[in-house]
Order: sequence, then C-alpha cells, then structure tokens
Amino acid sequence: MIDDSINHEYIIRYIRDVLPERGGLLAELEKFAAEREVPISQPETIRLIEVLIRLGGIKNILEVGTAIGYSAARMARVAPDITVDTVEINPEAAAYARRVFERAGVSGRVTLFEGDAADILPKLRSEGREYDMIFVDAAKAQYGSFFESCRDMLRPGGLLISDNILYKGMTATDELVLHRKRTIVKRLREYVDMLCRDKNFDTAIIPIGDGMALSVKKTD
Ligand SMILES: C[S@@+](CC[C@H](N)C(=O)[O-])C[C@H]1O[C@@H](n2cnc3c(N)ncnc32)[C@H](O)[C@@H]1O
Repeated sequence: MIDDSINHEYIIRYIRDVLPERGGLLAELEKFAAEREVPISQPETIRLIEVLIRLGGIKNILEVGTAIGYSAARMARVAPDITVDTVEINPEAAAYARRVFERAGVSGRVTLFEGDAADILPKLRSEGREYDMIFVDAAKAQYGSFFESCRDMLRPGGLLISDNILYKGMTATDELVLHRKRTIVKRLREYVDMLCRDKNFDTAIIPIGDGMALSVKKTD
C-alpha cells in the first residue's frame, strides 16, 4: 500500500503510470503540495473528475475547498466555456490559488470566495445560483452541514462529488479507526448513509483515491 491508501500500491502505481504526464504548472503544484503536505486531489481522482465533466457536458461548477487551486484550475481547463466558483477558508491558500488561476489562464472563469463554506454556501444559495456539478473537498466532518445548500444549488440531473469519503479505509471498518479521528469517521459514516438513503439522489461509492461518492440528483 502507498502510505495509508485504500488501494494496493501496484494498482495505484499502474494507474498513475498510464495517466497523461503533467508538465509545467500542474507538475509544479503537485511538487509544491507534496513538499508542503498540502492535501490536493490525487492524480487518478482528478482525472476521473475531468472525464465526468466532459462526459456530462458540465459547464458550471462549485468547489468547496480550493486549497492551492490545483483541482479548480484542472476542472476549468477541461473546456474554455467552463466556469468554477470555489470556496476556501485559509487566506494563504486562497492568495496562492489566485496566483495559480492567473498563471493557468483561467482567472476570468474561476471565482474564489474566501471564507467559511458554512457561511458562504447559504449566501450563494440565497442568490439563486445553480450548478451542474458540485465538488465537496473540504473539512470532512462538515460535509453533512454543507449538504442542504449543495442539494438546493445542484440542478436536476446534476452531479454531487464528495471526496475522501472512505478516509484511509476508516469509514469502512472500525479496525482502522484512529482514536483521535473517531468523530470525523462517525460524521462521514452518517453522511454516506444519508446520501445513500436520499431518494432524490442516486449515489455510488467509488474506491478511487481516498474514496469518492458520486451522487446524481434525480430529475423526477
Ligand atoms: C483537500 S483540500 C482541497 C484540495 C483541492 N480541492 C484540490 O484538489 O486541489 C481541503 C481545503 O478545504 C479547506 N477548508 C476546510 N474547511 C473549510 C470550510 N469550512 N470552508 C472553506 N474551506 C475549507 C482547507 O483549508 C483546505 O485548503
């Protein structure tokens, strides 16, 4: 296994080997994130998201958890008519991400909202914003509290992606749960249960990266 990944090392290495090589800014960001331990999407995870964006003809995206702007820049780059709204609580990360969007040539299409998503999401919802896809990749214990706003802002047929849902395997088995992580794990389990039971969504749990829930909002 690679660190505490949920997948076997040989599988991860193989998938990463066959992914298109990343040069320039993306390679620089991956190196920066690895050196500074900034948590950014794993290469196979963001690749799946890019494929889903293309597959679904997705144009308007909301991201919760920008970090240094790696995933937002990659999502915006899938097609020139994609717009991304992204929310980040950490001012340093937000400042870094703004520079990344300039350098990636997507600053005209990516809007960064700086602050706590718990405050910003209800504001965006009250403005009547609607998205084709929402990517939730922030504090795992808060996913449940972000859900109502996300649900309402997602258009019918839209896709809600929740990342890190298997949390190093801890969500799936008590045997792996670290004592200091037990509250986060409890909340993640409640969130997954809620998503899977919600009659307005069809949800699939994918064991890629750190585990991802794909939830499509039903149209009927
Ligand atoms: C896993 S990182 C995001 C990685 C990014 N999506 C990527 O793949 O490049 C999670 C980010 O969420 C931010 N975050 C955590 N809680 C938040 C909250 N309540 N509101 C907004 N951002 C939050 C953290 O500061 C961190 O930068």
